[in-house]
Amino acid sequence: MSAEVSVEPVKGRSKRSAARWVLMIAALTFCAGLLFGYDQGVIAGALKGIGNEFDVGNTAKQIITSWVTLGALFAALVAGSLADRVGRRPVLFGAGALFILGAIIQGVAVGVPMLVAGRVITGFGIGFASTIAPLYAAEMAPKKSRGRMVSTYQLAITVGIFCAYLIADVLQASHWREMFLLAAVPGVLLIIGVMIVPESARWLAKVGRRKDAVASLDKTTSADHLSEQVAAVEAEVEREQAEGEAGWSEVFGSGMRRALIVGLGLAVFQQITGINAIIYYANEIFAQAGLVSTEAQNTATLYCIGLVNVLSTFVAVAYVDRFGRKPLLQLGLVGMFVSLCAVGGGFILESTHDVGAGASIVGIITMVSLVVFIASFAFSLGPVVWILISEIFPSRVRGRAVSVATAANWGAAFLITEFFLTIVKAIGEGPTFLLLALMCVFGFIFVWRYVPETKGRSLEEIQQQWAKGGSASSWDESA
Ligand code: BGC
Repeated sequence: MSAEVSVEPVKGRSKRSAARWVLMIAALTFCAGLLFGYDQGVIAGALKGIGNEFDVGNTAKQIITSWVTLGALFAALVAGSLADRVGRRPVLFGAGALFILGAIIQGVAVGVPMLVAGRVITGFGIGFASTIAPLYAAEMAPKKSRGRMVSTYQLAITVGIFCAYLIADVLQASHWREMFLLAAVPGVLLIIGVMIVPESARWLAKVGRRKDAVASLDKTTSADHLSEQVAAVEAEVEREQAEGEAGWSEVFGSGMRRALIVGLGLAVFQQITGINAIIYYANEIFAQAGLVSTEAQNTATLYCIGLVNVLSTFVAVAYVDRFGRKPLLQLGLVGMFVSLCAVGGGFILESTHDVGAGASIVGIITMVSLVVFIASFAFSLGPVVWILISEIFPSRVRGRAVSVATAANWGAAFLITEFFLTIVKAIGEGPTFLLLALMCVFGFIFVWRYVPETKGRSLEEIQQQWAKGGSASSWDESA
């Protein structure tokens, strides 16, 4: 930053005032996650009513369910470069607007094509929000609470899923239009939030708006840390400017290779270990556990999946900055592995032995395993993947690189939800769950070998560590 820019706090902001701004940013991040989660959860409840009203077949239902993912994938790909060009806030504003538009189109749809158009527009909104909200949160958070801040985003996703389940449980399936229209609420909240919070100081500094960058940092940083913060951002931006403008070729270039492998690997492992397949398949598993009526299955899904998902995410919010990213990831993957083996084993046992109908022992073990799986995912891969993706890339390529990783996440989610049932048909439920368990083993090895511990380091220090070379698994813990 140029010398004429004062690094003195504008008003000598107190710790409390800085904390209030940080809270504001957390609230904005929360709205973005809420919007993502609500849509993830609402479709299960709405689908039945849509089916009754429009008399659609399975293929149309499949398209209505999954094309939101395609919209998100496309938007995620362009979100990063857009946010690098126009800033983080305008993209988040656009996400809120698209989400509201999509919710209204779905809510008033007169036929399937209009409904699908609404789904895709909603997908664009989700793609923008899911790429830029964690990135913005990571750029704005003080380093000691960065993990907590980004896990707020995941917490909001789980709260969104839970709210959608709850609303679907309370409203009759015929009220599917109201379910979609209610989705506009987090969109409106996001837009209000964006109008209040400051633009990312790191982005402002990068585009040469240095005074604005200092003003932004001044909001979120207490007076005693401001000079240090400004200096850190200044050094990072100067270094990047000396290296020149980053393009797509650099995102895929050799300098970025290790960070990109970590980002892409985490994004893909988060999906191929089966979270959305389990969410999708939950009612079936509860039926096997002896819950015969649809209402009982819905209620079990609401609490055993929806609520456990929310509660367990609190563990990550509370501990990710204390225990670190890797221990949570590894512990979570062990829990997911064990529970997937139990679910797979249960299915195999049931198909080879006559365990009887109703609430069998196998069924109950399966149900408990499902809860363990969701809990393990929710304190590990759920939030920590988004945290790491938002912090491992240098700011000059961060927007684009986060885009690529987020798009890979959506791509993997699309493939899993599209092909899960096909795989089940081909090899059976038991082996399918064991295959997912095997993915957890690969995921564990990947985390152990390639993922660095970023706890307690500033975004700038993380870049210095990459620059030092050596294996990411050996980054010293002394930060
Ligand atoms: C994942 C979603 C998943 C959700 C479940 C998110 O981190 O990206 O695919 O449905 O967690 O809570």
